[in-house]
Amino acid sequence: MTDLTKLEAELSAAVAAAPDVAALEAVRVAALGKSGSVSELLKTLGAMSPDERRERGPLINGLRDRIAGAIAARKAGLEAGELDAKLAAERVDLTLPPPPERRGRVHPTMQVQDEMIAIFAEMGFGLAEGPDIEDDFHNFTALNFPPKHPAREMHDTFWLPEDENGERKVLRTHTSPVQIRTMLQGQNDKLPSWIATSQAPPIRIVAPGRTYRSDSDATHTPMFHQMEGLVIDRAIHMGHLKWTLETFISRFFETPLVETRFRPHHFPFTEPSAEMDVRCDRSGGDVKIGQGDDWMEIVGCGMVHPNVLRNCGLDPDVWQGFAFGFGIDRLGMLKYGMPDLRDMFASDVRWLEHYGFSAFAAPNPATGLS
Ligand code: PHE
Repeated sequence: MTDLTKLEAELSAAVAAAPDVAALEAVRVAALGKSGSVSELLKTLGAMSPDERRERGPLINGLRDRIAGAIAARKAGLEAGELDAKLAAERVDLTLPPPPERRGRVHPTMQVQDEMIAIFAEMGFGLAEGPDIEDDFHNFTALNFPPKHPAREMHDTFWLPEDENGERKVLRTHTSPVQIRTMLQGQNDKLPSWIATSQAPPIRIVAPGRTYRSDSDATHTPMFHQMEGLVIDRAIHMGHLKWTLETFISRFFETPLVETRFRPHHFPFTEPSAEMDVRCDRSGGDVKIGQGDDWMEIVGCGMVHPNVLRNCGLDPDVWQGFAFGFGIDRLGMLKYGMPDLRDMFASDVRWLEHYGFSAFAAPNPATGLS
C-alpha cells in the first residue's frame, strides 16, 4: 500500500521547489494528470471493499485536495513574481532622449530649383520640359548655330554613337532646345517645317533640367542644371527682359535692390545678346550679393533671334520675345555659400547632411517655400 504521508511530503517538496510556472505544471501533471501518482491512487478505490474504501477514501481525497491547493497557491505566487520581473525588465524611461533619426535631405540644387520655379510661377511663367538626349536640330540647328560653330565640336559636346539612320544624338548642352520644342509643340516629328502650326503665343515658360558639357573644374561639372526662360508676345523688348531678371534676382537673393549690369555678348539664338552681372563683394571668404566692388556673371540672355522664330513657324514681324538661361547650381553656390561645384554631385552623404535642406522646414517667408 502506498505510503500516503511519504507521497504527500514528496509532492509538497516538488511544488515548493518548482522554479517557474512551467516546472509547476510538470509537477501537477505528474501528480494529478490522467496517470499521475495521485490519480492512480484514486483509481484503486473502485476495486476496494466498502470498509476499506470508507477508510482510504477520505485519506486519498484529502491528499488530492491539499496537493491541488498547494499547486494553486504556488502558481499564484509564481505568476505574481514573473509579472513583477517582467515589469522591472521592461520599464521604459520616458525621460531618455530619443535615438537619433536618420532623415534624407533635399539636395541644394533641387531646393534652389523649387525656389526659382516658385518665383517665376508668381510672375506668370508656366513650366516646360524637354529630353536630356537631344537631336542636332533642337540643340543646335533650329537655334541658329552655324554648321561649323565650335559648340558643336567634340570638346564641348557629348555626342552619342551614330544610330541606324546615321544620326548622332547629343546630351543636350543647354536647356535652349526646350524653347524650340515649346514653340513647335505637337509636331516635332515633321520638322523642319516652315508652315508649322506652332503653340500659339503668347508663351511664357521656364524650363529647368540637366545639361551636359565635357568640362570639369571648381565651377564646371560635366553634368549641371540650367533653367531656361522664354517669353514670346507682341511688342516685347529688352526692358521687359531687364525687369524680369532684376525682379527675379532681388526676390531670389531676398534683397530689395540688387544692382545689375548688362554686358553685350554673343549667342547664335539671341540678337542682341547679353550677359547679366550682379554687384557682389568677394573680399571676404564668401561672395556677398548686392554690395561691394565686383561683378558676377549670373545669366545669359537676349532677344530671340528672328531666325529662331522663323525656324519655329513664327513671323518675326508679328512676334518678338526674350530668352534667358541660368545655371541653377551656380545660383545655389552663390546663395548658400558652397565653394566647389564638383562637391554637389560627388554623392558624399556628409556634404549633403551639411548643405542639404530639411524636407520639413518651416516655410521661408520671402518665397513661401520650405
Ligand atoms: N543657352 C545659353 C547657354 O547655355 C544661355 C542662354 C539662354 C542665352 C537663353 C541666351 C538665351 O549658355
